[in-house]
Amino acid sequence: MTAEHTALDSILKARHSCRAYLDTPVPRELIKQAVATAARAPSWCNAQPWHLLITEASETARLGKALHTHAQTSPMQPDLPWPESYSGAYKARRFDCGMQLYDAASIERDDKPARTAQMLENFNFFGAPHMALVSSPHELGAYGALDCGGFVTAFCAALTSLGLGSIPQAAPAGYAPFLREYFALPDDRLILCAVSFGYSDTKAPINSFRTPRAALSDLVDWR
Ligand SMILES: Cc1cc2nc3c(=O)[nH]c(=O)nc-3n(C[C@H](O)[C@H](O)[C@H](O)COP(=O)(O)O)c2cc1C
Repeated sequence: MTAEHTALDSILKARHSCRAYLDTPVPRELIKQAVATAARAPSWCNAQPWHLLITEASETARLGKALHTHAQTSPMQPDLPWPESYSGAYKARRFDCGMQLYDAASIERDDKPARTAQMLENFNFFGAPHMALVSSPHELGAYGALDCGGFVTAFCAALTSLGLGSIPQAAPAGYAPFLREYFALPDDRLILCAVSFGYSDTKAPINSFRTPRAALSDLVDWR
C-alpha cells in the first residue's frame, strides 16, 4: 500500500451522508477548494458537464422553507425519471438503510407521520447552511449524468477531507420545475441532484449510523 492509498481510503471511509448540521457557514475559499478538487473527476471527452448552483446560508434557508412547503402539496416531476423499481439485493439494501435511518432517529416503523416528517427534511436540506444544485446539459443525456455522478462523489470526498459533512440528495430534484422557476435556470439543463453540506452536527443521533457495503465477491466477477 502507498501513503496516498491509505489517505484516500480513510477519506472514503470517513465520508457518510450527514443529515444534521451546525449553523456555522463554510468560508467561500473552502467551498472553492472542494469544487476545484472535485473538478479533477473524469468525464467523457473531458466535457466536464457539471454545473453547480451553490447557495449561501440565508438563501439555503429561504429556499428550504419554500421547497418544504411546496413538497407537501405538489407531485414530483424529476427531469431524470426515478428508478423503476428496486428488487432483490437492491430492495434489501434500500430497506436496510431506511431502517438504519429510522432507528437512529428513534422513529417507529409504523409511525407514518414521523417518517413523512423525516422525509420532508430533505427539502430543508437537513439544516445544512449550503446546498449545491447539480445540473448537466440535456443533450449529453445519461452520460452527462454519469460524469456528474463521479463529480458528486469526488465533491463529497473533498468536503470530507476538509472536515465538512455532506449528503447527495435526489429528493430535491424531484421538484425540478419548482427549482428551475425559483432560480430562473435554463431549460436545456437536467437538474440531477442537490448536495447539501456544512459542518456536521456530530452529536445528532441521525448522524450516528454507518451503512454497510457488499462483499467484493458480490460486486466483481473475474475472468
Ligand atoms: C445520487 C444519490 C441520491 C441520494 N438521494 C438521497 C435523498 O434524496 N435523501 C437522502 O436522505 N439520502 C440520499 N442519498 C444518500 C444515500 O441514501 C446514501 O448515500 C446511502 O444510503 C449510503 O450511505 P452513506 O452515504 O452514509 O455511505 C443519495 C445518494 C446518492 C448517491
